Amino acid sequence: MPDVVVRPMRPADVPAAERLSAEAFLGVDRALRAPGDPEPQERPQPRAARWVARTLGTVATDPGGCWVAEDPGAPGAPDGLVGFATSMRRDGTWVLATYAVRPGRQGRGVGRHLLDAALTHSRGCLRGMLSSSADPAAVRRYVLAGFEMHPQMTLAGTVDRSAIPPGTGERVREGTSADTDLLESLDRRRRGSGHGPDHAYLQDTCRLLVVETRAASGYAYLDRESSVQLLAATDRRTAARLLWTALADGPEQQRVTHVTAANAWAVEIGTAARLALRTSGFLALRGMDPPAPYLHHGALL
Ligand SMILES: CC(C)(COP(=O)(O)OP(=O)(O)OC[C@H]1O[C@@H](n2cnc3c(N)ncnc32)[C@H](O)[C@@H]1OP(=O)(O)O)[C@@H](O)C(=O)NCCC(=O)NCCS
Repeated sequence: MPDVVVRPMRPADVPAAERLSAEAFLGVDRALRAPGDPEPQERPQPRAARWVARTLGTVATDPGGCWVAEDPGAPGAPDGLVGFATSMRRDGTWVLATYAVRPGRQGRGVGRHLLDAALTHSRGCLRGMLSSSADPAAVRRYVLAGFEMHPQMTLAGTVDRSAIPPGTGERVREGTSADTDLLESLDRRRRGSGHGPDHAYLQDTCRLLVVETRAASGYAYLDRESSVQLLAATDRRTAARLLWTALADGPEQQRVTHVTAANAWAVEIGTAARLALRTSGFLALRGMDPPAPYLHHGALL
């Protein structure tokens, strides 16, 4: 890896990292595009702004988990940034949030050095989680780092409103920051660790739905399109109640993402709503089984 220095990420690096990541993921989407798929688009501005806000949060909470690779020929210049990896530690679980190398500089060992640097932040963590793209180079790096790959599925299409069960939305209420202890308990039950400061970010950017009865509880964060970003529940019935509520409240076209085989309940609901099922990347895990009933967040897992 000549001519590249790996150093801790600084807040000032984050906007250039966002552009690099948008370019790298557009490259993956183009390379893996199936016949008949629409032309992949670069990350739009509102999502780019959320990416920057979220990553600034990770750099602040986990400076030891966030690294960049820089070309010393152009230090500080936006195009001096060659790659980056951001990760966090939550209650003994290491989470890789995002990871990319500039197209044109890939396949020359930069990614290996970045992942090794980020993994130093996983010392003492028995569990690890990340959501992998289907890029064969990424998958190779994760398998070699000891992760087990669990295929992820996405359901997408036009929701058949006649399939929405009567009574959907009953016993589901809007959540607030006052629910955070409940959310943390559900996180620990399902994935072994809370989301800690990530709940504040999610509450700032998402709608929060909560079910809390004597027998069962669960929560879901929904984005502006009512698409579930993160869902955890004590049982499948509660998880189903939350997902149906999200589908009922959303627009015609919807997506349910990050579904693993352990979450067949979500495949059943998406299929009942006439959404089309396809595979999409992997949930990569170390020291744990795929959580269920649980739909993980793509970066905060
Ligand atoms: C994943 C990524 C960060 C890795 O960075 P990189 O600098 O390319 O990584 P490295 O060169 O250190 O390692 C890549 C490995 O995959 C191998 N590889 C590359 N293309 C491959 C392919 N098509 N099939 C199989 N292996 C492949 C390389 O030979 C190398 O293995 P080796 O070191 O044992 O020879 C980078 O490729 C990237 O940005 N991809 C697009 C964005 C992405 O998918 N990020 C991961 C998000 S979860």
